[in-house]
Amino acid sequence: MLYLYPVAALHILLYSTTRLVSAQDCPLPNKTEIETALSPLLINAQGFGPFSPNITGPVRYVCLSQGDMIDTYRSISLIATFTPNSGEAEQTKLFLMYCISTSGTWSESATDGLHNPSPNLVGAPPRTDCIVCRYGFGDDQCRECPYCDYGLRRCTSRHSCCSVFTASGFCDYSCESDGPNYVATASTGFICTCNLTCPDGFTVNSDCTDCDLNICDAESPCENGGQCIQYSPADNYTCDCTGTRHGGVNCASLIPSPSSLTPIAITSPSPSLAPSIPSETFAPCGQNCDTCKTSNCCKTCSLGYYLNPDDCTCGRCTVSNCSRCHSLNSSCCMECEEGFELCSDCQCKTYASSTVNQLLPTGAAISPTENAKTRTWIVLFFVALILVLCILIFISVLLYTIIYFASGGARTRMNKTISIPPAANARLHNNPLYVSPEEVTLSISPS
Ligand SMILES: *[C@@H]1O[C@H](CO)[C@@H](O)[C@H](O)[C@H]1NC(C)=O
Ligand SMILES: *[C@@H]1O[C@H](CO)[C@@H](O)[C@H](O)[C@H]1NC(C)=O
Ligand SMILES: *[C@@H]1O[C@H](CO)[C@@H](O)[C@H](O)[C@H]1NC(C)=O
Ligand SMILES: *[C@@H]1O[C@H](CO)[C@@H](O)[C@H](O)[C@H]1NC(C)=O
Ligand SMILES: *[C@@H]1O[C@H](CO)[C@@H](O)[C@H](O)[C@H]1NC(C)=O
Ligand SMILES: *[C@@H]1O[C@H](CO)[C@@H](O)[C@H](O)[C@H]1NC(C)=O
Repeated sequence: MLYLYPVAALHILLYSTTRLVSAQDCPLPNKTEIETALSPLLINAQGFGPFSPNITGPVRYVCLSQGDMIDTYRSISLIATFTPNSGEAEQTKLFLMYCISTSGTWSESATDGLHNPSPNLVGAPPRTDCIVCRYGFGDDQCRECPYCDYGLRRCTSRHSCCSVFTASGFCDYSCESDGPNYVATASTGFICTCNLTCPDGFTVNSDCTDCDLNICDAESPCENGGQCIQYSPADNYTCDCTGTRHGGVNCASLIPSPSSLTPIAITSPSPSLAPSIPSETFAPCGQNCDTCKTSNCCKTCSLGYYLNPDDCTCGRCTVSNCSRCHSLNSSCCMECEEGFELCSDCQCKTYASSTVNQLLPTGAAISPTENAKTRTWIVLFFVALILVLCILIFISVLLYTIIYFASGGARTRMNKTISIPPAANARLHNNPLYVSPEEVTLSISPS
């Protein structure tokens, strides 16, 4: 019965995934969706039809009942100006729309109907502090959340409030899940944002917990006079190589000009030129190169520099344990050193930590090499299984033959009784390797 558990677990997983996917809130409707909702409302209000309404003016939202994600809603009330059929007189009406959570599409409410908007709604901003938008909750049709008193002020249940959107856009009570320095204000649309300011020369790190020294100031990664441009977080930079006659991430690789294509050694054999070239970092084929492939193509790069995917130039990679960096992005690795695995975020992790990443429910991408390894293990497992089964069958056939000849078979053919002494029989059955043919049949039967 144990084998049923994985099946049950799969069922639960599929079920919950379907539920997660199906329970969705709707983004604001477009013009077509509003017009589609208006048709049945018009038929209901006027008792005849059909109508093909055309929205002719701006749509104003009156009540917005937030969904679980930013910019999604469960119900809305809106004022629209439209012609019921093209060429007819314009009407301006207030009505409700509900999000059908199973399909994520909008539906009108025929029972709530079309209404003339009251004058006090003119120019009023939409309300976002509503549990639900419904006819009967006042002019703006907003059922206000009475328990929460900050930001979005939406009740998700009687005692739980959705006051802010986390950085990933989910409704939450506070910004705590994002980190200690995240705050949400009306000016950020109640989205939690990093509110850590750093002194000159420092930039906020990627998780907004601290200020790190700017990489431009700390390491001056741009070479040959390239200009370092600092971004956030502190290890994010680009080099402006304009006018340096160099290219690549760190302006490290010489862009060959037509005149420099002729080898220097031949045109100017004067030894006086030699000292101006730092020999340990400047092989004739390019900067930070140790050995050359051709006169303008590097074969191996100096320590700390890696051969770019162009197989010719050397770039300085800022990713630890990387053996080959992206040619245009120094913070993106394309090939890791021995013992490290390339992760989906261009970083190199040890095998152990990348395995942990796979187990996390973040949906981290499994690299092709990891995939191949998994497949190899599965194949090995099945080969081992088949081997064990073969051995079991072999043992049972062998034992069956021995017993057959030792008792019945021998007896009938030779017409002579061979009796196994009780002691020998017991020895046979006490043998830990002894498997009765019935047991073998049971253990390999498919049920
Ligand atoms: C309006 O939204 C619906 C549903 O999302 C979509 O199928 C349709 O193409 C959209 N129409 C326009 C004009 O954007
Ligand atoms: C809807 O109204 C717009 C603007 O008045 C007009 O250009 C368009 O042709 C109308 N569409 C229909 C289907 O009547
Ligand atoms: C953001 O940080 C500044 C400086 O520390 C502080 O004055 C301000 O009150 C913070 N904003 C919020 C909304 O907490
Ligand atoms: C680095 O900064 C640029 C420009 O602001 C931004 O587009 C990019 O996403 C940043 N990279 C990282 C890794 O944060
Ligand atoms: C991998 O990178 C880490 C962090 O930079 C470093 O401490 C470690 O020595 C590197 N390991 C190897 C084998 O290069
Ligand atoms: C460089 O690679 C990093 C890591 O994947 C990425 O976050 C960043 O956006 C890339 N930068 C550019 C300029 O493509």
